[in-house]
Amino acid sequence: MVSRRGTGLKGRAEVPGDKSVSHRALILGALAVGETRVTGLLEGQDVLDTAAAMRAFGAQVERTGEGAWSIHGVGTGGFAEPEDVIDCGNSGTGVRLIMGAAATSPITATFTGDASLRSRPMGRVTDPLALFGAAAVGREGGRLPLTLIGARDPQPVRYTVPVPSAQVKSAVLLAGLGAPGQTQVIEREATRDHTERMLAGFGAEITVEEGPEGRVITLTGQPELRPQSIAVPRDPSSAAFPVCAALIAEGSDVLVPGIGLNPTRAGLYETLREMGADLTYENPRDEGGEPVADLRARFSGAMRGIEVPPERAASMIDEYPVLSVVAACAEGPTVMRGVGELRVKESDRIDAMAQGLRACGVEVEEGEDWWIVHGLGAGGVPGGARVESRLDHRIAMAFLVLGLASQRAVTVDDGQPIATSFPIFEPLMTGLGAAIARSNG
Ligand code: S3P
Repeated sequence: MVSRRGTGLKGRAEVPGDKSVSHRALILGALAVGETRVTGLLEGQDVLDTAAAMRAFGAQVERTGEGAWSIHGVGTGGFAEPEDVIDCGNSGTGVRLIMGAAATSPITATFTGDASLRSRPMGRVTDPLALFGAAAVGREGGRLPLTLIGARDPQPVRYTVPVPSAQVKSAVLLAGLGAPGQTQVIEREATRDHTERMLAGFGAEITVEEGPEGRVITLTGQPELRPQSIAVPRDPSSAAFPVCAALIAEGSDVLVPGIGLNPTRAGLYETLREMGADLTYENPRDEGGEPVADLRARFSGAMRGIEVPPERAASMIDEYPVLSVVAACAEGPTVMRGVGELRVKESDRIDAMAQGLRACGVEVEEGEDWWIVHGLGAGGVPGGARVESRLDHRIAMAFLVLGLASQRAVTVDDGQPIATSFPIFEPLMTGLGAAIARSNG
């Protein structure tokens, strides 16, 4: 795909449902007894793979309309043994949460995924699942394909998550549903809390306390989860692309309505405002227990690089690729520290962005868990390169956003991965007037 400068983006951008919330709605729906109805579900490939997995474990999952889904769950501990390998495609969230949910059922399941997912670490999940009594056999380094043998006699667990990861936290909590007694998860840094919120919504007994060790989450196992009606908020991580595009493309004024602004997810927007972005929250409200607002972004020609507070990293972990694009169009350096997790996402996101930005004429410095992008100011990025998306949707979209503000077009070698999280990215962006197209070579 190729993107180039135009006359700016204008209009309303209705981005799809939140990916994190969508996965959790399907998985918890599958573990409840009775019918859960979901509206606004993200129908991206990652979530569709999770829906197929829930069917393979015995839940009835049906699409009843656009974004509307019905799930008849099997009850906690009720997962049936899948007949075949579970293919989670590109989705780390899918495979890690599902492994957690399966770990305390007396079944055996084998998981795999695409080349990106097969290269990602799974020990971070299978280690705590072993404490419940589950066993896993995978490839070197615990990588997929991997077979998980669920605990026959699960034990509750107290576990401190060693890396800031909502996926690991959620896997442990979902496993805790199948164990008797109380499972405790402790996280030193707060990560997205959709699992905790949704478990409470489904009627589980769950408490969260701030202690000297961090956030202590206590879940009482073997509850009967009550089916829910869930309206999925629109995804702040998808909204980031039209918002950032509007900030850097001259002449832009874009409204992105109904975006979930849960504080564990909204770090990017705070950072952009600190950089001097013309970004406002309109009509703030509460929808389904999550704070929501309409985001309005206008071209901001005088943004400055900043030092992003490392303690904010978890609340914007998926947004660093597109932030680095905005940073390239701001004046001076943007310093991003405490972001080692970026190296184990769908791709090594520091390396993928650094190489592509350098090819577009932007200076980038990097270390194991930090990077610095030296901004060239509005209109200052030369562009003109062909970059690799590396099976990573956010890398593909970030570079297509860069092309909208750089002097020469930016080409992305493979736009296919975008469908995992934002299947309508191309029509949505072109509908705003962005010059994004399929390239012939
Ligand atoms: C997610 C958690 C994050 C994030 C991913 C979605 C989730 O991963 O990068 O896109 O839904 O729990 P980690 O928890 O591994 O940081």
